[in-house]
Amino acid sequence: MSTDALLQLDDVGFSYSRHRTVLQDVTASFAAGSVTAISGPSGCGKSTLLNILGLLLRVESGTVKLAGRDVGGASDAERAAWRARHVGFVFQDALLDPAMTVAENLLEGLPLQRSRRSAAATMRDLLEQFGIGDLAHRPASRLSGGQGQRVALVRALLKDPTMVLADEPTGNLDDVTAEVVLSALLDFGRRPGRAAVVVTHDRRIVARADQSIELPVSRR
Ligand SMILES: Nc1ncnc2c1ncn2[C@@H]1O[C@H](COP(=O)(O)OP(=O)(O)OP(=O)(O)O)[C@@H](O)[C@H]1O
Ligand SMILES: [Mg+2]
Repeated sequence: MSTDALLQLDDVGFSYSRHRTVLQDVTASFAAGSVTAISGPSGCGKSTLLNILGLLLRVESGTVKLAGRDVGGASDAERAAWRARHVGFVFQDALLDPAMTVAENLLEGLPLQRSRRSAAATMRDLLEQFGIGDLAHRPASRLSGGQGQRVALVRALLKDPTMVLADEPTGNLDDVTAEVVLSALLDFGRRPGRAAVVVTHDRRIVARADQSIELPVSRR
């Protein structure tokens, strides 16, 4: 396996309960500067795998290595610290605070060392790029599904993470908007030292990724 892998999974197994295995013997390498597509039937474990890559879930068997270091022995606090600094999640449902505006959702919780003014400028550029520049001051409770997903992607990119993990980021978008979002993810993942992992059913995205992982139907 390449030594410049940001993340390396070897023989990873996972289940939520004793009765059913969700992931079995998953071996995969996520190189710096690459975009990976994960696909497979509904319920096969794609979101679960993304949560493992983002250190939200611990594996049951096998190993997860970050830049060559096995994270199996890392404490919850160490894992949370890595996540906070390095991972930009775009969850399947956007997980915005409905009581706050789009801009408040995006600027809240950014690392303190970043100047708020430059973050706000980057935010405006990204919202504009994704065709939702007019929504900055709208309450998140009044966004459509596709608008919310784009806001979630802006939030992930604003953090300037090492890797973006995106779960069906184009699922609710028209073709033109999906292309803009996909281009942004491809550009991000191919930057030196970064990576993007995209869960998708869209064959066109799979075709344009640097590597594709197709998960089998999970077994009972
Ligand atoms: N927190 C949980 N507790 C128990 N079972 C779960 C949990 N989350 C997911 N599962 C189960 O694990 C399996 C894999 O779920 P997962 O969400 O990873 O699938 P998926 O491939 O992302 O599906 P979809 O394409 O529908 O989003 C499913 O059978 C699901 O019901
Ligand atoms: Mg899913």
